[in-house]
Amino acid sequence: MSSLLLIVMYAALCGANTDSQQENIETLMDNVLVLRVPYGQGSMVYVPLTCGEAYQNQPVTWKKNGMELNPPLQGNQIKVLVEEMNGGNYTCHLSPNGEYLNHTVILVQLDPDNRTVILEEKSPEEGHIHCSASNYKGAFDCAWTRTQSRSNAAVLLVKAERHLEKIPCELNADGSGVHCDYASCPYGEEQQRISLTVYIHSYSRLESYTKVFYLREIVRPEKLSHLRISEGKVFSWSYPDTWETPVTYYGLQFQVKLVNHGHSCNSDEHIMQHSITEDTKYEVTVKAKKYVFCVRAQDRHTRGPWSHWSQCTVNKQDVRC
Ligand SMILES: *[C@@H]1O[C@H](CO)[C@@H](O)[C@H](O)[C@H]1NC(C)=O
Ligand SMILES: *[C@@H]1O[C@H](CO)[C@@H](O)[C@H](O)[C@H]1NC(C)=O
Ligand SMILES: *[C@@H]1O[C@H](CO)[C@@H](O)[C@H](O)[C@H]1NC(C)=O
Repeated sequence: MSSLLLIVMYAALCGANTDSQQENIETLMDNVLVLRVPYGQGSMVYVPLTCGEAYQNQPVTWKKNGMELNPPLQGNQIKVLVEEMNGGNYTCHLSPNGEYLNHTVILVQLDPDNRTVILEEKSPEEGHIHCSASNYKGAFDCAWTRTQSRSNAAVLLVKAERHLEKIPCELNADGSGVHCDYASCPYGEEQQRISLTVYIHSYSRLESYTKVFYLREIVRPEKLSHLRISEGKVFSWSYPDTWETPVTYYGLQFQVKLVNHGHSCNSDEHIMQHSITEDTKYEVTVKAKKYVFCVRAQDRHTRGPWSHWSQCTVNKQDVRC
């Protein structure tokens, strides 16, 4: 009785095992399979490959990364054993002349994919991908940095969507970022988040990175333009040309900072004067003849990211903006 139970249980466990192996193989895109394996368990998985229906009745042989296999793999439908992270590019060829017919790339991803090594983390809050937009019109840019040891890594796919609607994105020439653009409705309250996923691989190792955000969280006004000084002590500037209009609806607020001569606007020390204003001008009241005037902008309503600083260096009569 109990041995029968054991056999039944064993059958059930084995059944579950092969099923789950199948579930761990996914077609990510044309000619690319992703195998998901647990971390550190020395996995060995058989992955089924087909050369394609078009070559059903032809004699077919296979190569891995351009190399003949030993023993040779033959047949339109085969199974290859993938050990740990050893995926590869499997090509099928007509025999005996060796003409190339088709290929399947097997990439391996850890499951869970939380021990990533390909991209650098920008910061714990920001994660691995930095996104920004200069207004609410629907265009935005995202960027990432490969770690030094994985500088060869290549982007396979970028998926961006908002509420099941695809957002078109274009990869930069060097593969370190994307420019995306969608038709947004800038006047409405933003209801849906944008989700961006980057699939990147280094040899056979695949990692995916996802960033989910509201456009309003990444809208950062561009550097303020036309910063100038008049009447000796009054600085004035304009809204960035790329900012939304009307400015009565899309108001900015400005942070003004005076730092000691020779110091950076980002410095938290050496601050002589500090203020927040909604005006596009500011009168300096310090007696010092040498200082750096710094100003930057933020959306007054969403309190999103600050722009980069604009600055004027004042050295007595010499003012450089
Ligand atoms: C080539 O292989 C892919 C699988 O990687 C398959 O989807 C496709 O149909 C094959 N092409 C042909 C012409 O059979
Ligand atoms: C795999 O091999 C085929 C045939 O040589 C080639 O066209 C394809 O670019 C290769 N893919 C990758 C990811 O190496
Ligand atoms: C990754 O996830 C697993 C399972 O959820 C967890 O045990 C492990 O500590 C995580 N590793 C890291 C580096 O976060």
